[in-house]
Amino acid sequence: LASVEVDISQIPVGEAVLVKWRGKPVFIRHRTAAEIADARAVDVASLPDKQTDQERVLEGKDEWLVLTGICTHLGCVPLGTKSGDEKGEYGGWFCPCHGSHYDTSGRIRKGPAPRNLEVPEYAFLSDTVMRIG
Ligand code: FES
Repeated sequence: LASVEVDISQIPVGEAVLVKWRGKPVFIRHRTAAEIADARAVDVASLPDKQTDQERVLEGKDEWLVLTGICTHLGCVPLGTKSGDEKGEYGGWFCPCHGSHYDTSGRIRKGPAPRNLEVPEYAFLSDTVMRIG
């Protein structure tokens, strides 16, 4: 499938889902106001892979964070999407393979991964339907 449509109306604030797109895991997180504030309070110059939170989300839809769920170190699927998952020291995702910690913008903060989790192409078809790809 070139693209996949996802009903996001059933994803409460503070939760996330994993969907498959082109055989890859994609994380969709409905961020809390605190998670967004945390992501924006960071000094970007201090980050290993310098990206602002605003560069990683769509303007006006910044509660939705969409990521390719593949650790940029050696390709494991990080934890942090299912409720009860360990989210790491920065409240985003944690890759248990070698200990990479990602923040609430999916940016690498600690550990061996060299780059932020990738943001795939996505768009909103309506307030409740998102298209990945
Ligand atoms: Fe994620 Fe190594 S594959 S830390």
